[in-house]
Amino acid sequence: MRKKIIIGNWKMNLSLADAQDLVFKLKNQVKTKSAVEVAICPPYVYLLTLVNILKGSNIHICAQNMFHKENGAYTGEISPEMLTDLHVNMVIVGHSERRQYFHETDSDINLKIKSALKFSFTPIFCVGEDLKVRESGKAEEWVKRQILAGLKDLSKIDLEKIIVAYEPIWAIGTGKICSGEDANKIVKMIRETIKELSTNIVSEKVRILYGGSIKSDNFSEHIKYPDIDGGLVGGASLKFEEFAKIIDLADSVHALHQSHP
Ligand code: PGA
Repeated sequence: MRKKIIIGNWKMNLSLADAQDLVFKLKNQVKTKSAVEVAICPPYVYLLTLVNILKGSNIHICAQNMFHKENGAYTGEISPEMLTDLHVNMVIVGHSERRQYFHETDSDINLKIKSALKFSFTPIFCVGEDLKVRESGKAEEWVKRQILAGLKDLSKIDLEKIIVAYEPIWAIGTGKICSGEDANKIVKMIRETIKELSTNIVSEKVRILYGGSIKSDNFSEHIKYPDIDGGLVGGASLKFEEFAKIIDLADSVHALHQSHP
């Protein structure tokens, strides 16, 4: 059975003092949770400090991005090797904000996923359509194309290690939520596509998350679907109480799915 995972994507937010405060509280809260995995994605400049605070805890530290090359003349970039030195073990790849503001293409994303896997990171591979595509009724087609391009030439063994996050762009940071039913439809299609690329066993192992305006009062709508394995949470991961409630929700649903598979 796939373990639920809640990932907090802080984006470019919080002061160092606020970040430390949040992490101390989370460390305490998450230590009693065993049915759900938790990860946070702080800005690069806080990683070292937060890794030290979280030593020995069960919270993963995830980078928000990385470059695919190991080193070299790439001003401003961070390599997988550098992140490995910090004991970071996950990385977000292909977030829609990276695609939109930093012009990352599907082939850049494919290179990053391969590089992340080479360095034993778990890539959190983000896909999702914008409002225009959603309204034209072509969301499934769009996301399938992103999946095929991002996962191009990956072996079955590598496919098994990735986490996919379905994040419709129109629902990110907007307060507009994609219904559980609609999100589940796309998540099922993603699992089916991964199966086409590998086997049923592999696709059943891959965790697929929902992301986009998740809050503690709307997430039960998504997490109740057994195919939705957790959430990628932006704004709501910056507030301890709110993020803690979302973790609790995933924790209790996981226990429920285990007793009634
Ligand atoms: P949001 O962001 O929860 O603030 O909508 C989600 C994300 O971008 O990962």
